[in-house]
Amino acid sequence: MKKQVALFLAFILLFSGITALASEVTVFAPDGRQVAIPAEEAETYLNLGWYGTYEETVQTLYAPDGRQITVYLSEVPAYCQVGWYEKMEDTVVTVYAADGRNMQIFKAELPAYLAVGWYASYEETVQTLYAPDGRNMVVYKNEVPVYTELGWYQNYEDTVQTLYASGGRTIKVYKAEVPTYTMLGWSERPVTGPVVALTFDDGPHGVHTNSILNTLAQYGVKATFFTLGSQVAAYPSVVRRAYAEGHEIGSHSYSHPNLNTCSASTVQSEISRTVSALQNAIGAGPTLFRPPYGNHNATVRSKVGVPVILWNVDTLDWKSRNAQKVAEHVLSHASDGDIILMHDIYGSTAEAVSIFVPELLRRGFRLVTVSQLATEKGQALGAGTVHYGF
Ligand code: NI
Repeated sequence: MKKQVALFLAFILLFSGITALASEVTVFAPDGRQVAIPAEEAETYLNLGWYGTYEETVQTLYAPDGRQITVYLSEVPAYCQVGWYEKMEDTVVTVYAADGRNMQIFKAELPAYLAVGWYASYEETVQTLYAPDGRNMVVYKNEVPVYTELGWYQNYEDTVQTLYASGGRTIKVYKAEVPTYTMLGWSERPVTGPVVALTFDDGPHGVHTNSILNTLAQYGVKATFFTLGSQVAAYPSVVRRAYAEGHEIGSHSYSHPNLNTCSASTVQSEISRTVSALQNAIGAGPTLFRPPYGNHNATVRSKVGVPVILWNVDTLDWKSRNAQKVAEHVLSHASDGDIILMHDIYGSTAEAVSIFVPELLRRGFRLVTVSQLATEKGQALGAGTVHYGF
């Protein structure tokens, strides 16, 4: 009996062990199903793709407008197909303002932001601008109007300009360099038709030189002034104006002597005193020399240091003092490559200029400085070389 009780108890224990082994657990499918199974089968189910907790079978998805939902794992592909995202960060994008600001918005808001001037990428908010001297920089688009106002260009092509010389030669330079190159004889327009150099001696004159400068400015043409050092000292502001307006400034000696009859030291003094006078007035020396009366000898040519420029059209304006005669002389004699001699100390000459300049232009002439004329004609100007025309 005791043996029987012991056996029974053992049986009970065994049975309760079986009962423990046969206890149930619930497993969850990724599509929402759930089933209670004997605990010992759990591992098998887990291996088949079931989950031990409900939480593992669902996932939060994010819409591009900020909404979020929880779906069964099995539904995830279908939801992603119609625009839901598994990661919240995939639902937002950064937008950029034209002034450098940026912010994150939901993807659904992107069209609305683009419509009011935001950009989808940083690169779109900036723009490269170009200076007329070749520099460039990157600015925010909202700064573009300010910079263009200051002289920057939106296109590189706008910062360069083609200049022209005779023989079909062209050169591309930055716009900032145009004044320098036109001084050297390059032209902003294609070089066609005859070109001449107007030259004026014995000034500057307090009244008539200004009158001539007014006419030249009115028609946008350039000339060459062979100044006397003594007159430069007396009227520095006049020569300063001529220089500032792009005319060429030459020397005509200091006091207008016949240099062929002067000692070498006097020749030297006439040259260097005029250089000093011009340095004081315009900060630069003469680029050309025209000896009084056209008289020059070896001493003059060796000391002058710049080209010696004479003329091949003499208006004799000092003799006639008649505007109509001077104008007629220029109009009947001017031809391509000429250097035309006048004097800016006569009212009649100033009046003549206002008559013949528009007529020369009407006839297709271009009026340039002596150095420009030489460049256009491909002539080198050396110190002490003598030129009558080109
Ligand atoms: Ni003279």
